[in-house]
This record gives sequence, C-alpha cells and structure tokens, in this order.
Amino acid sequence: VTAAAGAAPERYNKRQTGGFVDEMRSVAMKLHSKDQSKEGEKETQGKPWPKWEPTIDGYLKFLVDSKLVYDTLDKILVKADFPEYAEFRNTGLERAGNLAKDLNWFKEQGHVIPEPLSPGLDYSVYVEELSKNDPQAFICHFYNTYFAHTAGGRMIGKKVAAKILNGKELEFYKWDGDLSQLLQNVREKLNRVAENWTRDEKNRCLQETEKSFKFNGKILHLIVA
Ligand code: HEM
Repeated sequence: VTAAAGAAPERYNKRQTGGFVDEMRSVAMKLHSKDQSKEGEKETQGKPWPKWEPTIDGYLKFLVDSKLVYDTLDKILVKADFPEYAEFRNTGLERAGNLAKDLNWFKEQGHVIPEPLSPGLDYSVYVEELSKNDPQAFICHFYNTYFAHTAGGRMIGKKVAAKILNGKELEFYKWDGDLSQLLQNVREKLNRVAENWTRDEKNRCLQETEKSFKFNGKILHLIVA
C-alpha cells in the first residue's frame, strides 16, 4: 500500500480541505470580480481596486466600521445563543483589539477618529439579529468576514499603506503566531460543525455568502469614500 492515510494532509491546502469549507470558499471566490481574483466570475464595477485613491479620512472610516463589525461578531460568539458559536471563540483571528491599537495610533498622530457609519452599523445590526435564529447563515458571515480580511484585505492594506501611510504596517494586519495555521484550525472547526448540518442547512449557509459580500463590500468602499 503506497497511499497511507498519513499522506492525506499534503494534498489538502486552503483550496481543498475535503470538507464543507471547500464549498464555502468556492461560492465566495466566484463572487469576486475578475480584477479581484483569478477565480472571480463577476464583472468589475467601478474602478478596479488597485487603482483606488485612498485618503486617510476614508481609511479611518473603514477601520472604525471594521472594528464595530469585529466587536459585534466576537460578542455574538461569547454570548453563544447556539452552542456551536463557542467553537469559534479565541481562534487567534480576532481583530478588534488590534484595531483599537491602530485607532489609538492615528489619534496620537493628531487624527480625529470618526463615529461608525451606516455600512458598519447596518451590518452589525443585521448579523446580530441573524445570529439569534439562523446559525448556518451567521457562520457564513463569520467565515467570510474573517477570511476575507486575511486574503484580499491584506493585499488592500499593503497597497493603502504604501500610498498614504509611508508603508506603515498596522496591527490590523498582524497575527500572533502562524496565520496559515490559525486559518487551518478554523477551517477544521467549520468542517466539523457543518458535519452536523443537513443539506438544506448547508445550502442556507452558502446562500448567505452574497449578503456577506454586499455588506463587506460597502465597508471596504469606505476606503475611497
Ligand atoms: C480570497 C481578493 C473582497 C471573501 C481572496 C483571494 C483574493 C481576494 C486574491 C484569494 C487568496 C488566495 O487564495 O491566495 C479580494 C479583493 C477584494 C476582495 C481584491 C476587494 C477589493 C472580498 C469580500 C469578501 C471576500 C468583500 C467577502 C466578505 C473572500 C474569501 C476568500 C477570499 C472568503 C477565501 C480565503 C481563503 O481561502 O482562505 N480574495 N477579495 N473577499 N476572499 Fe476576497
């Protein structure tokens, strides 16, 4: 026997976990535009993101609204209206604490930190309500919001920093430990949780991806607002 069971992990990378996350990722990748990812299938609307002209004011709005959303997601996981939410506490992917440090830094530089705007406020209200009665849909938002930030979010952060922050790397883009391992741990948890879902429940989760793109897209666009 040449293909021992122990050989499996080598075939599994972020594009192939052998579980439900593969489906979540595949639906998400198709919702990208072609300028955003080679795997994207949507036409580009407006300016392709590498041509964005960010401002500090816009970027601050984006960071403030992002912090609100990450705070809300973490609060929902702590409250755990459904027991499976507790699985996703303390994954090491949390962003609110690091964002607080970044906002402090901007304040020390003399910038005024704005109040959250409707993109972040609306999304927070939406996920909070959803989390109370639709765990599959809520977990879709958890996955997309956290994973998007480690992928496209990081590329955008680098570009913005080069354009308007003299290349300063914010805490928002730093993780304690090995990010790919943290992500892999969460993928495995997602796969385990979804094993208990019916096909209908899985589909409900996948169908929610589009909403997550709409809300997160609006927050991203604050960068150029
Ligand atoms: C993955 C770019 C917006 C969700 C990716 C990848 C790229 C990318 C290049 C592939 C990374 C890789 O596999 O190496 C972008 C850009 C965006 C954007 C440039 C906007 C300008 C979004 C939005 C969402 C999202 C709004 C939804 C909230 C995801 C997810 C993945 C991903 C879930 C999979 C991550 C993983 O497999 O670990 N994105 N993206 N992206 N994106 Fe986006």
